Amino acid sequence: MLDNLVQKSLEHSAEKPGDYIKDGVLYCGACGKPKQKKIHFPNMGDRLVGIACDCTESEKASVDDANDTAAFETMMERRRIEDSIVDPSYRKVTLADDDGANPKISKICRKYVDQWDKVSTENIGILFRGPVGTGKSFFACCIANELLKKRVPTAVTSFPRLLNLLQNSKDRQGLLDRLSTYKLLVIDDLGVERDTGYAAEQIFAVIDARCRSNLPTIVTTNLTPQEMDAPETMQYKRIFDRVAEMCPVSLLVDGESRRIQNAQRRKELARELLL
Ligand SMILES: Nc1ncnc2c1ncn2[C@@H]1O[C@H](COP(=O)(O)OP(=O)(O)OP(=O)(O)O)[C@@H](O)[C@H]1O
Ligand SMILES: [Mg+2]
Repeated sequence: MLDNLVQKSLEHSAEKPGDYIKDGVLYCGACGKPKQKKIHFPNMGDRLVGIACDCTESEKASVDDANDTAAFETMMERRRIEDSIVDPSYRKVTLADDDGANPKISKICRKYVDQWDKVSTENIGILFRGPVGTGKSFFACCIANELLKKRVPTAVTSFPRLLNLLQNSKDRQGLLDRLSTYKLLVIDDLGVERDTGYAAEQIFAVIDARCRSNLPTIVTTNLTPQEMDAPETMQYKRIFDRVAEMCPVSLLVDGESRRIQNAQRRKELARELLL
């Protein structure tokens, strides 16, 4: 039995090209650490057993890490299909895709990702606000996708999507409860819904559910601070009050619409290609 184990350990740390023997023990040619060790066994005497050199340790760590990532991605994919909260139309952008035209916001997003453990403990969310097409959803998605890379359960959705789901759901409470299974929730487009009492009620339910979960939420909106400070109805006052509490960081993403800039570039390209 023990003999078998010793034999197996030697097979695991078998000689590879470049390895060498010193003082009767096999050494790794890459990291220079021993791959064998002499051990005294009472019934077997001195025997060589195989041990892990630094290379084997780091190989094992990266295999474990890849396995964990694959398991996490499978789990998130299953949840995406099961609970329909995640909007599949959101792009897989990360901070590597950021063109850096708004360096202040880029820096804050990077810090948010780097300091995730602290910001999540303190339940710090962000409100990205500003005019149409300036990159609010882009930055919110970047943060979400960077955190997904760190295996943080994160979802990107939108108020219109949640409204639609709530309207058609037979299990409204179940849907609201599932919002708090995500450590970070990005909810895009606050304020684009039709101004009805019903819509306000659903939005309040979403915001309130997330507020109670004490988990960070990122919200994007075209609404101005003035509009959020002086809502017309009590229901919206209660919504905006909670958003202000959930999102202590309010970032203005300003500038010209990038879509107009993109359209201009594409127009020029089309002219070059076709005219
Ligand atoms: N920092 C950036 N780097 C590269 N591309 C960007 C950046 N910010 C935005 N874009 C691109 O510009 C376009 C508009 O961005 P986005 O959809 O995020 O705007 P928005 O502020 O959310 O607009 P809306 O108010 O209409 O929702 C998208 O195609 C997006 O990919
Ligand atoms: Mg947007």
